[in-house]
Amino acid sequence: MSSLIELKEVSRLYGFGDATTVALDEVDLTINKGEFIAVMGPSGSGKSTLMNIIGLLDRPTYGNYKLAGQNVSKLRPGRAAKIRRDRIGFIFQSYNLLPKLSILENVAMPLLYKGMGQTRRLKQSASILETVGLFDRQYFMPRQLSNGQQQRAAIARALVNNPSLIIADEPTGNLDSAASLLVMELLSEIHRDGNTVLMVTHNPELTRYASRVVYMRDGSIVYDEETPIGKVPAMAKRIMYFMPKKTEEDELAGVSALLKTIPGGKSADPAYRSGRPVGKKARKPQKAAAKRTTKKRTEKVAKR
Ligand SMILES: Nc1ncnc2c1ncn2[C@@H]1O[C@H](COP(=O)(O)OP(=O)(O)O)[C@@H](O)[C@H]1O
Ligand SMILES: [Mg+2]
Repeated sequence: MSSLIELKEVSRLYGFGDATTVALDEVDLTINKGEFIAVMGPSGSGKSTLMNIIGLLDRPTYGNYKLAGQNVSKLRPGRAAKIRRDRIGFIFQSYNLLPKLSILENVAMPLLYKGMGQTRRLKQSASILETVGLFDRQYFMPRQLSNGQQQRAAIARALVNNPSLIIADEPTGNLDSAASLLVMELLSEIHRDGNTVLMVTHNPELTRYASRVVYMRDGSIVYDEETPIGKVPAMAKRIMYFMPKKTEEDELAGVSALLKTIPGGKSADPAYRSGRPVGKKARKPQKAAAKRTTKKRTEKVAKR
């Protein structure tokens, strides 16, 4: 099966000289059609940069990106915009609705860029608003809606073009748990329909909707685990355990604290080995650690 997304040694640098920031550091990532990937990692670890590159909002400084078999690493902005419009839907933490347009007009916006006539545009938008439970709010202005409703409108806008790849960067970041649940149920439905979903989240609980979780630190993917839908995978559970409180800051602290202990970090814990530590730095210490455990076990057996 050919993969939908293939990143090879993708780096993204900002600034230059002494002020260079390496937002992404030679990231390798392959994603198949139909996966639901949750991306976790501390603030500043490169999650949004990765989403923006995959979503063609940004380009790698170095490296290669193939989307559905096509090399898209160096597309001109116009070409990128077209591919984005046809196959990618974006959802952000801040809904980015245009305040002076009605909910219906906001949702219809991507179709306008596509050159669709008004009647069809509004009909298609009303129908997608029905899907997200906002049919009776279509003539409201964004500010008249709750946060959760605004995010669902933003999801409708992302879906109106029928994209097969949905990228959601902290979609529940501004929402209470009830509204988050609705958003997650929508993303889950999109996934069940056969689409590919990429979601950044700080909330380990939400990894239960994912089929795979990717953990980032300092611009690299440091851990990558597949997981049955409905279950919180091992590493995400550890992160939950590390989180003392429910505030955003504590969650971030939990994610940071734990990611420091992942193989490749200094205090690698062999208990994490159910998933895959990733990257050049991660591989060596992992092998060494695995040898160590085997040795210990042999010693124990020998003692008996
Ligand atoms: N436009 C930009 N200009 C300069 N540095 C940036 C820019 N965008 C992101 N960065 C830097 O790149 C790193 C990764 O950022 P980002 O991808 O936003 O992380 P995350 O989404 O995980 O919080 C950070 O150090 C951030 O400061
Ligand atoms: Mg971000």
